[in-house]
Amino acid sequence: MNLEVSTKSSYIEDLNWRYATKKFDKNKELNQDDLNVLLESIQLSASSYGLQPYEIIVIRDMETREKLKAAAWNQTQITDAPYLIVFSNLKSVSEAYVDSYLDNIAETRNLSREALKGMEDMIKGTTLQLSADAQNTWAAKQAYIALGNLLSAAASLKVDTCPMEGFDAAKFDEILGLADKNLTTAVIAPVGYRSEEDSYQHLTKVRKSKKDLIEII
Ligand SMILES: Cc1cc2nc3c(=O)[nH]c(=O)nc-3n(C[C@H](O)[C@H](O)[C@H](O)COP(=O)(O)O)c2cc1C
Repeated sequence: MNLEVSTKSSYIEDLNWRYATKKFDKNKELNQDDLNVLLESIQLSASSYGLQPYEIIVIRDMETREKLKAAAWNQTQITDAPYLIVFSNLKSVSEAYVDSYLDNIAETRNLSREALKGMEDMIKGTTLQLSADAQNTWAAKQAYIALGNLLSAAASLKVDTCPMEGFDAAKFDEILGLADKNLTTAVIAPVGYRSEEDSYQHLTKVRKSKKDLIEII
């Protein structure tokens, strides 16, 4: 099977344009409309059962970002970009959390809660049975899907990002007061614009060949 892209795809062009930005332009602002599109791309992300077991923190405040940078090996993207987006996931999923989601479905789609009983049993029967560790891992996986959406949406707007795991999550949780809220930092992404001086933008992408990456059966 020929796996080459034969039609011109602006989506693929955008993905080639995107790179993990190491140096942001400190003086370039992100406008509110673009920020709003990025946040909506996160809101519209798919998640298991639709539970969205995460919360997003958008940080503009420089004092907070200076503290976070110190807990992230001093990676300058955290303070140079105009915004830092923190994806925090639920550490555990409670029955009350699932109930509030089901209430939201009932209200949004004008359904009775009884009509959602099958769904309720299925969701509670799976997620609530997981160990605490497994719930945390499952919730973090959902947050990473939202991260992926953000990266692609940003690329489509020619807005730069850098997905980042290089930070001390316990320190982030403390600085952001997450521990008391049953949340923990999963992954972060500064958003803004690349500096012209960032040499990484000129590097050719290194990826597995499609042959090594994709098996067609
Ligand atoms: C989950 C995740 C964590 C990452 N953590 C960091 C990080 O802490 N600092 C950094 O500069 N880049 C980080 N990266 C960027 C990767 O190194 C980069 O995406 C990879 O080398 C591929 O390059 P490209 O994204 O420029 O195509 C991370 C990427 C992902 C997806």
